[in-house]
Amino acid sequence: MKFWVESGDGKRAVDLYSDEGFKLAAELWLKASCHRKLMYEPTWLGIPIIQYPNDIVMMQELIWKLRPDVIVETGVAHGGAAILYASILELIGKGEVIGIDIEIRKYNDIAIRSHPLSKRITLIEENSTGNKAVERIRGIVEAKRTVLVALDSNHSRAHVLREMELYGPFVTQGSYMVVMDGAQEMMWSLPEGKKEWREDNPLKAIEEFVAGNDEWRIDTYYNRLEVTSNPKGFLQKVGARK
Ligand SMILES: C[S@@+](CC[C@H](N)C(=O)[O-])C[C@H]1O[C@@H](n2cnc3c(N)ncnc32)[C@H](O)[C@@H]1O
Repeated sequence: MKFWVESGDGKRAVDLYSDEGFKLAAELWLKASCHRKLMYEPTWLGIPIIQYPNDIVMMQELIWKLRPDVIVETGVAHGGAAILYASILELIGKGEVIGIDIEIRKYNDIAIRSHPLSKRITLIEENSTGNKAVERIRGIVEAKRTVLVALDSNHSRAHVLREMELYGPFVTQGSYMVVMDGAQEMMWSLPEGKKEWREDNPLKAIEEFVAGNDEWRIDTYYNRLEVTSNPKGFLQKVGARK
């Protein structure tokens, strides 16, 4: 099966079953589903989670493998990802989730606090790059053996880069910093997209952060389903915790 691609260089046929065809099909699905806002559809154990199913599955794999003592999440929104992380930790039998959000809305706060998994979740209402949040997290993670960080708050390049600089040191050796929504880079061309997303996005922050940095490696294993909001988003800390 072939489909036609039209670009500045003219029109050409691409085989759906080639590597290029698969990548293009994934990109088309992401763009069309982003336009339809499908990432707002899933719930996890009753709480809305702003993620695509593939990305939920990949986080489940990573948490099950790492068995972290603490998962720090910036950007909580309704709390679905915090509940997802807590649910895997509950099955593992240890660990806590620290969720930081600049604004935890009343009804989200009530829903998270009244959830059966709330005992594994601490919410902090702060700017993720502010001193208060960072110092509180430092106190919590300091003595922990395995710390995993997921960054999913403000998706501007500058904010994500600052988060990576501030939260990267909390990640323990061998563990990961997951930087979400790098796919924003390809969404500038959506009807409702913004031209500035082409440069101003989490993927650009990731690329800047890892350039010439041998403390971290991008682990593409967790991007193998191809349809993902988090391209190059799984950064493994290969150097020791500073
Ligand atoms: C994409 S949503 C998070 C989705 C959530 N992680 C999930 O998977 O369901 C982004 C959240 O980041 C929060 N946010 C935006 N800027 C922030 C900042 N500077 N510090 C902390 N949170 C921020 C917003 O309030 C919003 O709730």
